Amino acid sequence: MNRTPLIAGNWKMHGARSEAVVLARALTETIGRVSGREVVIAPPFTALDPVGQVIAGSQIRLGAQNVHWEPKGAYTGEISTAMLGEAGCTYVIIGHSERRQLFGEVDETVNRRLHAALRAELVPIVCVGETLAERDADATAAIIERQVASAFAGASSTQIAGCVIAYEPVWAIGTGCTATPGQAQEVHHAIRRQLVGLASDTTAGRVRILYGGSVKAANIDALMAEPDIDGALVGGASLDPAEFTRIVCYEETQG
Ligand code: PGA
Repeated sequence: MNRTPLIAGNWKMHGARSEAVVLARALTETIGRVSGREVVIAPPFTALDPVGQVIAGSQIRLGAQNVHWEPKGAYTGEISTAMLGEAGCTYVIIGHSERRQLFGEVDETVNRRLHAALRAELVPIVCVGETLAERDADATAAIIERQVASAFAGASSTQIAGCVIAYEPVWAIGTGCTATPGQAQEVHHAIRRQLVGLASDTTAGRVRILYGGSVKAANIDALMAEPDIDGALVGGASLDPAEFTRIVCYEETQG
C-alpha cells in the first residue's frame, strides 16, 4: 500500500505573529513546491491566520495544535473546529503528550476531540506514546494499545482510514534522545496490526503513522527507511527553516 509521507511541524508555544510569518515565508521558499510528500505546519492559534495567508497557494498545509469538541459555548480558553476551519486549517494535532501530561488531557477527551475533528473534516493527527517509567516496566505495548483503542472508539473504518497517528515516546520529546529506528518500527508495526482489528486490512494499510520525538536532519533518513514509519511530527527542529527543510527533503533509502 502506497502511503504519501507526511512531515508535520509542531511549533508549540513558539512564534509570535511576526516571527511566525518570517518562518512561514522561509519554508514557502524552500519546500513550498515539494512533491511526493505532504507538509503540515502547526503554529500557535494567534499565528494561524497570517501563516495561512503566507502559505496559501503552496504545498504546505496548515494545522492546529488542539481543538475543543463542542461547536461553541462557555469554554474559556478553548477553540472550535469552525474557528480552525475559518483560519485555513485542514489538520489538527490531538492528544499531544504535553496536553496529556501538563493539561489533564485523558483518553476520553482525546476521543471527543477526534470525533469533532472528523465531523468538521479536519484531519486528526492523534498522538500516542509511553513514558520512560512505562517503557522500563515493559508496559509500552499495553499503553499504546489502550491509547489507540480509546482514541478511535466509535469511529468507522472509513473515518479511521483518513486519520494520522503520531507515535511519540514521551521520553524522546524535546530530550535529544530519539527512539532508534528499530524501537520506533516495532511500535508502529504493532499499531498497524491493531488497526487491522479495529478497522480492516485496507484501513490499516492506509493510515499514516508518524514518528515524533527529537526528530532532526541527522536521524530522519534512517527513521524513514523503516517500512511502517510514514513521516514525522517534528517539534524543536521545525522552528529552524534549514533543519526542517532538510527533514522534509529526507533521503529515501527504503528498500
Ligand atoms: P521534539 O517534539 O521534536 O522537540 O522532540 C516533538 C513533539 O512534541 O511533537
